[in-house]
Amino acid sequence: MSVEPVTLQKLPTDLSVNRLPKHVAVIMDGNGRWAKNQGKPRIIGHQKGVDALKDLLRCCKDWGVPALTAYAFSTENWGRPSTEVQFLMTLFERVLRRELEEMKEENVKIRFVGNLAGLPDSLRQEIDRSMEDTKNNLGIQFTVATNYGGRQEIIQACKAIAAQVKQGDIEPEQINEELFEQHLYTHGIPNPDLLIRTSGEMRISNFLLWQMAYSEIYVTPTLWPDFDRVEFHKALATYQQRDRRFGKV
Ligand code: FPP
Repeated sequence: MSVEPVTLQKLPTDLSVNRLPKHVAVIMDGNGRWAKNQGKPRIIGHQKGVDALKDLLRCCKDWGVPALTAYAFSTENWGRPSTEVQFLMTLFERVLRRELEEMKEENVKIRFVGNLAGLPDSLRQEIDRSMEDTKNNLGIQFTVATNYGGRQEIIQACKAIAAQVKQGDIEPEQINEELFEQHLYTHGIPNPDLLIRTSGEMRISNFLLWQMAYSEIYVTPTLWPDFDRVEFHKALATYQQRDRRFGKV
């Protein structure tokens, strides 16, 4: 595939504006390996990862993709060395504080999904502030999955529905997909059309298990800090060639 040797500020001409995904989800894998390849500590990979995410968000805005969701920290990531976990928590907080004004100016609506109660208080405060300050923005919907696990999300939805049944507010027969979705963290956000995973792993790693039932999956060997607009262009071009049948013929 030929890639236009330009800065890619605008949607590349080989992509159809009518067939863009309405929601792209990303598993930003490979920060640690990127750093190792450079002979640097893993945390440098995470710092570079933030730059890549920021550029992807801007690219979605420039090219007309209305929603982006990034998997920043899974419920399983607590099992990493405590220094790395602490670094990531501080990094999220610092990035939020640093980027909030710009996100407000650029009309970004930010939302965090996951078990937010399990995050450090100071990070929670920045998260709450960023969501509150951007809740009326009508630009790109940017969702960050933090302390997120798909199974855990489904279980908490089941518990909430079971409590409604127990209280007599609903009958079990009333439980359907629509009702279930109302209890997911992502309520109100369309399901992802496209999942991008970097660093070549062919897994979804407990990410948006319910929501990705019909998402197209694109895996690239590129490590996350190297995922740039040229790479995003390739992912979108591949997506636009897919025949989405949603189980039909
Ligand atoms: C996976 O790479 C990456 C992470 C667990 C962290 C990703 C987080 C960011 C890029 C920061 C996002 C920031 C905000 C505020 C949204 P890895 O460490 O698993 O890489 P490896 O598989 O090569 O070890």
